[in-house]
Amino acid sequence: MTINEAILARHSVREYTNAPLTAVQIKTLNADIDRCNEEGALHLQLVTDEPHCFQAEKPHYGKFRNVRNYIALIGPRGKGLDERLGYYGERIVLLAQTLELNTCWVGLTYKKTPNALRIDKGEVLRGVIALGVGATQGVQHRSKSFEAVTEGTDFPNWFRKGVEAALLAPTAINQQKFRFKWQDGKVSVRAGIGFFAHMDLGIVAYHFEVASGQSFFLNQLRTGKE
Ligand SMILES: Cc1cc2nc3c(=O)[nH]c(=O)nc-3n(C[C@H](O)[C@H](O)[C@H](O)COP(=O)(O)O)c2cc1C
Repeated sequence: MTINEAILARHSVREYTNAPLTAVQIKTLNADIDRCNEEGALHLQLVTDEPHCFQAEKPHYGKFRNVRNYIALIGPRGKGLDERLGYYGERIVLLAQTLELNTCWVGLTYKKTPNALRIDKGEVLRGVIALGVGATQGVQHRSKSFEAVTEGTDFPNWFRKGVEAALLAPTAINQQKFRFKWQDGKVSVRAGIGFFAHMDLGIVAYHFEVASGQSFFLNQLRTGKE
């Protein structure tokens, strides 16, 4: 499965089988997590066979069952952290899908398990991504239209492809509050106002880049033009 195929196949899965991650899956994920941490100045961590993170019974949306593996979304506090966690976290999510694993981003309904994690001084845990062999493959979410999330005219074909892939991306409570703009031959994307909207921004930008073949997002983050 290619990463573009993974974009189509991925849906949030909240219920998992007992199958453990294989040694190959763990090795492949950890190798990419190391690269993401290096490139993105992050401290993402894969935690395996650790059920406590998902045992908290809190009022929440979404019901999780049998989650034993997850990626902890950790990085240094500061501007652009949520965007980078979204961008690199989704890179791992799509890689996991190609390894026949299912995932679900989780911003709220998990319990912090300090013993299983390394959170250094100045760092913060912003959420986790549940991971494993799903009991189901999930379902396609309802989506906004291309027109509802874009600004501009005379869109090139690759821009359309990028936005279509962005509309398949996970966003918190499926809010899809982002907007892609095509102006003066340049792409940009901005977050709306909402819960985890800046993490969503990184996630959708990664989908856009994979499907369009155009990278712009990390540069946009560096120049601060969001
Ligand atoms: C940043 C973020 C936080 C999320 N937090 C939760 C959560 O706390 N609980 C939950 O059940 N789902 C959570 N989700 C999953 C979304 O509800 C899901 O991605 C969205 O409904 C779209 O569905 P799909 O992922 O199947 O395409 C989160 C997703 C994102 C991107």
